[in-house]
Amino acid sequence: MSGFEKAFGKILNGVFVITTKKGDRVNGMTAAWVSRASFKPPLLTVSIGKTRYSHELIKDSGVFAVNVLSDKQIAEGKHFGFKSGRKTDKFEGIEYETHKTGSPILPDTAGYFDCRVVNTCDAGDHTIFIGEVVDAEVYEDNHPLLHRHEDFF
Ligand SMILES: Cc1cc2nc3c(=O)[nH]c(=O)nc-3n(C[C@H](O)[C@H](O)[C@H](O)COP(=O)(O)O)c2cc1C
Repeated sequence: MSGFEKAFGKILNGVFVITTKKGDRVNGMTAAWVSRASFKPPLLTVSIGKTRYSHELIKDSGVFAVNVLSDKQIAEGKHFGFKSGRKTDKFEGIEYETHKTGSPILPDTAGYFDCRVVNTCDAGDHTIFIGEVVDAEVYEDNHPLLHRHEDFF
């Protein structure tokens, strides 16, 4: 691991599944690079690699949801984080709800944010999508999962 990678490892993140819906197609991918960005309006950012299928879908649909994985959902993080929805339907056999934007909301998480894209920012090999939160919920009994490299890689 390079010095830069080691230093980046000191930035603490949660683990999230970013979902979206374009037409009849739903998809989700695991992300750690999620952050709050503004109080008013309530904005958050997600940094998504330009090669991800989710990148294409969110760019086209203008909507996404951030599902905050709980500390019992490492398996869900692996499920959505290691294969692309371009080739498989990661939602096959998985139950979900939809709220305002139609993006899938997963069960048993610590909470979710349903968002509409209000801006994007080019960031090297990633794009930062800025989402305005249009709906959110917390499930107090479930604790958010802290991203630890060794849990996934
Ligand atoms: C723990 C974990 C965190 C990840 N964080 C991000 C992230 O913040 N941004 C990103 O673009 N990809 C991230 N990934 C990789 C994507 O989840 C992965 O490439 C996924 O297969 C993309 O799916 P898609 O092609 O269906 O969109 C992460 C993967 C894991 C396992």
